[in-house]
Amino acid sequence: MAMAKLILLVALVAATGSSCSAWRLNIRMPTAQAVEDAAERFEENVAAPVIHALRPLLGSGRHLSNLAGVPCDSWRLAVEAYNKRDWKTVPANCEGYVGHYMLGGHYRRDSRVVVDEAVAYAESLKLAGNGKEVWVFDIDETSLSNLPYYATHGFGTKPYNATSFNEYVLEGSAPALPESQRLFYKLISLGIKPVFLTGRTEDQRAITVQNLRRQGYSGWEKLLLKPIGFKATAIAYKSGERQKLQDAGYVIVGNIGDQWSDILGAPEGARTFKLPDPLYYIG
Ligand SMILES: *[C@@H]1O[C@H](CO)[C@@H](O)[C@H](O)[C@H]1NC(C)=O
Ligand SMILES: [Mg+2]
Repeated sequence: MAMAKLILLVALVAATGSSCSAWRLNIRMPTAQAVEDAAERFEENVAAPVIHALRPLLGSGRHLSNLAGVPCDSWRLAVEAYNKRDWKTVPANCEGYVGHYMLGGHYRRDSRVVVDEAVAYAESLKLAGNGKEVWVFDIDETSLSNLPYYATHGFGTKPYNATSFNEYVLEGSAPALPESQRLFYKLISLGIKPVFLTGRTEDQRAITVQNLRRQGYSGWEKLLLKPIGFKATAIAYKSGERQKLQDAGYVIVGNIGDQWSDILGAPEGARTFKLPDPLYYIG
């Protein structure tokens, strides 16, 4: 039976003549170079506001990945899909790949897709408009970008150094992630109040407020920081804080972060959004 169908199909295809060769043309796999060229052209066509002075002219670094013979793009996908967990550092041979991903337009493009979905979702909501509807925002690599730090510290390939990272945080100079900021102001215009929920500690409140304000954020409902010395996983801490929000009568209509630990653990929020982050893992 299957063979009969196959023979019929072959006969039909043979009978259609010129459309047969068109079909063949369509299914021919592009060469690796053609894929590379198309990707580079695409990235050049995406006009992204510069968020870091080191933004290079190259694309996302596929060619670097290829040159090194390392599937860094597969590593990144596994990280984003939460198949890879509890990792300590970016593989050393993926430093160039991650650097170009972050600075070359690909990161911004991926972030834009996430935020476009979040905006469409927010616009589709039937809101009560009672001032109790909130959206939870993580801060690092969500509302603010620490790319200036990571760009000078190996793009996540070096073990986390709390001393030097905290020095950087205390400068209060982290740039806003433009996509998240667009979502932030869209939500306010819809009557949804942003709540910051961060793993930054209470002693960093003043500089965090200053940094957020300098970068154009204002009008948030709450800024929730971790008590100093608080010992719990990020998931336990953040889900606990979200529970307190609910207990206080808030309705969490959305939740956005760059770590899975920002968006796992009940109550998660009515819908969650995961921004890309190949720089570090927080469990
Ligand atoms: C961590 O950063 C501090 C401050 O920049 C530096 O003095 C120290 O050597 C760093 N530690 C490591 C292990 O690199
Ligand atoms: Mg974060």
